[in-house]
Amino acid sequence: MPNITFSHPDYKDKTVYAVAGSHTETILKIARENKLPIQFDCQDGECGTCLVRVTHLGKTKPKGGPLTVKEQTVLQELGKLTAEEIEQMSVDDFPPQWRLACQMIVRDEDLLVEYGVN
Ligand code: FES
Repeated sequence: MPNITFSHPDYKDKTVYAVAGSHTETILKIARENKLPIQFDCQDGECGTCLVRVTHLGKTKPKGGPLTVKEQTVLQELGKLTAEEIEQMSVDDFPPQWRLACQMIVRDEDLLVEYGVN
């Protein structure tokens, strides 16, 4: 089971266990289940309110990709993802650090999720 550590500048870090492998287990869902105050609105990858910075912990290759076109578009609009990074993602299969919590599905990897830092 992956450990996900949620971090906010004004709150104490909280580490939770997540169940990987479900297509509905998003970072936002796990945060809400654990009463972590990540801001959100649409929950559909359109508003960008749930922006988080994700760091993959451990020595394995990050598994968080690929991003949907919708998530890529919103991240670009927020200035958190460039066209060059999108190109690089497709070549390296390497997810970017900025993600939408409502779109990112949890995989079997430990993560640091920073919210309230955008
Ligand atoms: Fe709107 Fe995630 S809540 S993009």
